[in-house]
Amino acid sequence: MSDNSALIKVEEVSKSFSNRNRSEQVLQNISFDIKKGEIISLLGPSGCGKSTLLNIIGGFEKSDSGDVFLEGKTVDRPSKRCVMLFQNYGLLPWRSVLKNVELGLEGLDLSKEERMDRAYHYLKLVGLDSKTGLFPAELSGGMQQRVAIARALALQPELILMDEPFAALDTFNRYYLQDELLNIHRNEETTIILVTHDIDEAVYLSDRIFIMNANPGRIQRELHVDTSRPRDRSHSDFQHYRKIILDEFHLNHPARPVEFNI
Ligand SMILES: Nc1ncnc2c1ncn2[C@@H]1O[C@H](COP(=O)(O)OP(=O)(O)OP(=O)(O)O)[C@@H](O)[C@H]1O
Ligand SMILES: [Mg+2]
Repeated sequence: MSDNSALIKVEEVSKSFSNRNRSEQVLQNISFDIKKGEIISLLGPSGCGKSTLLNIIGGFEKSDSGDVFLEGKTVDRPSKRCVMLFQNYGLLPWRSVLKNVELGLEGLDLSKEERMDRAYHYLKLVGLDSKTGLFPAELSGGMQQRVAIARALALQPELILMDEPFAALDTFNRYYLQDELLNIHRNEETTIILVTHDIDEAVYLSDRIFIMNANPGRIQRELHVDTSRPRDRSHSDFQHYRKIILDEFHLNHPARPVEFNI
């Protein structure tokens, strides 16, 4: 399992939460390595600990035992090298769309104009260049999500952690932004860890899919997606991977339901 070329190393991470005097083990002994430039999906049913694991990798949450390393250095707090796109968008309601995207750039060595240009560039990429002056409450859920995506991409980070980034989007925007993410990944060698409920999204984007299961959250199977990009969603290879995942969750056997809100 140990690999010195790993950008991210997750070693035997476990985590419990206490709710109403009951302790619930959410993650049990999770270990994996991720190489620079890989796209990894964490796929699994609601409550299996995907967000918790992503938060631990990003340094936003502490594990009870085990460690996460970013190029050999223990992660114990959020790092500028890594941007997190939270499940609830994390937009500031009192800042305009443009100012929300500029937010992360304020700590960088950029002039006011460079900052605005870069924010505008990524807002254009997500199709919101005409909404820069509006406030988050004036946008639809999908638009808010696109602002959050623009804000993360504008930082041009080495590592992007995304928690269901495309979940609130309609199919067209979802497909379009999945392709844009792949373009950015190709051009900037970004490493991406993505939490998703969406089997097609996982197969379309990922080099590897970690299929998780719940109670306690663990990695049930690691699936390498060995087809070249761009991938064709209607190709038999694509269906082959879909079927493996559906079988893994017993979704081809309706007598055995799982809580899987796709
Ligand atoms: N801060 C917290 N305090 C107590 N329990 C928590 C906390 N965060 C998460 N949990 C519990 O941990 C479990 C896993 O939560 P998590 O948010 O990681 O799941 P998830 O796989 O991301 O689910 P979803 O797909 O619905 O977003 C859940 O049972 C949840 O109730
Ligand atoms: Mg979650």
